[in-house]
Amino acid sequence: MKVNCGALRLADAGSHVELNGWMNRRRDHGGLIFVDVRDRDGVTQIVFDPKHPSFALAETLRHEDVLRVRGAVRRRPAGTENAKIETGEVEVAADELEVLSRSLVPPFQVNLDEDVDENLRMQYRYLDLRRPRMQRNLTIRHKIVKAIRDFFDSRNFLEIETPLLVKSTPEGAREYLVPSRIHPGSFYALPQSPQILKQILMIAGFGRYMQIARCMRDEDLRADRQPEFTQLDVEMSFVSQDDVLEIMESAMIFVWQQALGIPAPGPFPRYRHEEVLARYGTDKPDLRFGLELVDVKETFRATEFKVFRDQAESRGGAVIAVRYPGGATLSRRDFDGLTELAKQLGAKGLVWIALASDGVKSPVSKFLSDADVAAVAGALAAQTGDALLLFADERARALDVSGRMRNEIGSRCNLRDPGRFAFAWVTDFPLFEVDPDTGKPAPAHHPFTAPNDDQWELLESDPLAMRAQHYDLVLNGFELGSGSIRIHKPDFQRKIFAMLGMSDEEIEERFGFFIRALDYGAPPHGGMALGIDRIAMLAAGEENLREVIAFPKTQVARDLMMDAPTPVPERLLRDLSLKSTAPPPKD
Ligand code: AMO
Ligand code: AMP
Repeated sequence: MKVNCGALRLADAGSHVELNGWMNRRRDHGGLIFVDVRDRDGVTQIVFDPKHPSFALAETLRHEDVLRVRGAVRRRPAGTENAKIETGEVEVAADELEVLSRSLVPPFQVNLDEDVDENLRMQYRYLDLRRPRMQRNLTIRHKIVKAIRDFFDSRNFLEIETPLLVKSTPEGAREYLVPSRIHPGSFYALPQSPQILKQILMIAGFGRYMQIARCMRDEDLRADRQPEFTQLDVEMSFVSQDDVLEIMESAMIFVWQQALGIPAPGPFPRYRHEEVLARYGTDKPDLRFGLELVDVKETFRATEFKVFRDQAESRGGAVIAVRYPGGATLSRRDFDGLTELAKQLGAKGLVWIALASDGVKSPVSKFLSDADVAAVAGALAAQTGDALLLFADERARALDVSGRMRNEIGSRCNLRDPGRFAFAWVTDFPLFEVDPDTGKPAPAHHPFTAPNDDQWELLESDPLAMRAQHYDLVLNGFELGSGSIRIHKPDFQRKIFAMLGMSDEEIEERFGFFIRALDYGAPPHGGMALGIDRIAMLAAGEENLREVIAFPKTQVARDLMMDAPTPVPERLLRDLSLKSTAPPPKD
């Protein structure tokens, strides 16, 4: 009977089995050879007896050799059981051994989850993927995707594939282009997301669409960004924002239950965008801990400390305070370090107030009355032993810096429970934000997002005041996904493009096909996309998307195993009517 390496239990004792797998570990003692054979499902101990003909071959086994063994399952002698592995009560007494394949000495240990140089891991990804951590992570990912498909199938959604070779659809990021051989000088774009196509599927009458969709964006990489990633993409017709939120929230609760076996983390709290910024300084707060921010500028309207008074007097100014639990014991040097960090994060400075048991300490104590300190401490519900950190600046910047410092305090004080999943909805985003490069309004989400129904008249007069029917799902400080109710009236869609500075010709050239589709009876619709890689990363307790993607790119968008991207022979470029202007590669 062929069994996997994680299958055998005490009840199997006496049966004769075949195991196939990799040589995980070999120990020679007491005249016997013990070999652990490993596959995806686990590890089983094999015993070779010196009287047996395969003993000599077993002596030659090395790490990562591939073997097939046959033998009898038996109970391990009392006292030699291994409670750490599921097969730990039994072993297999080998009577046949075949070496199916030999391995070179691996560049790192495969049978341990120890730290290995990242580049080495990526170069030998097939060995890295054999390690227990990666096998576990990709298993979790599979279960998540399976649960997602089951959930949406049960709610009457159809999974429909959309193409990878498309016309460019702007969503903020730079696109990957694919040259056309048949149409020299013309290019396809790889999709940043199936956004326009899923809207067209609504116009096409499918009503409820979902897809596990590959997306490509040529953007600067971070731990939570890859150039190629996967979305759970969803779109629905005849829905309100609440309908979309209900479906997506139920989906996440189902996934957590099915894939992770964790009780439902819902209902998810909802915050308006403005509110979440004011309380956490970010639109993706980590809600596993409190430490809410408070604007204490009213306390400092009459202070002699000019830095605070200036912001208190200015309409757009703020003095944001955050509590550092137990921070009163920090040294002056620690506070200098915090101030330095705050400056790196964009702060102009940092005022700290230590509520030490032997009195209040602060570099600006001569400006601070007892009443000021009591007011700030009261606003933050701080106690003796805590420190208070204060940031004075233009409100948005003060909030941003304070939010980052709140996260830093969360790490330093170990406030994040790794077993907790704190989901939250953020709603009522602005429709536009000012693009820092051009100084002009740009879509906060994408140009297909509908504003609140009663706000169209603001489009000309005060676009930045418009609120969108746009929502984000946040988990433990990460943006898990975004979505919106879409514009389904062609005139309104045209108005938005025009407002973004596009001429009629440009609209026609880039989006003519889409507006024409809207002209033929488009139902009201809306949807959302969640990052599957991010879901898997957080579910697996990892901190980088690379840990849940089988073949990811490095920080500089390279595949070190395949060695991509690489230059191609001239002749291939010629076929595509392309000529490279890059300097020749250095060898
Ligand atoms: P958005 O651009 O916000 O929305 O993307 C949705 C989610 O996709 C994930 N994501 C990424 N994951 C890994 N690496 C990346 N480079 C990356 N970029 C995005 C994130 C993000 O929240 N079409 C809209 C959705 C809609 O309106 O329905 C869209 O793509 O988890
Ligand atoms: P200064 O008057 O610049 O020497 O600053 C006095 C103290 O106030 C120092 O501890 C600074 O770090 C702090 N500080 C300066 N600017 C700000 C600010 N915008 N917000 C908070 N603290 C500040």
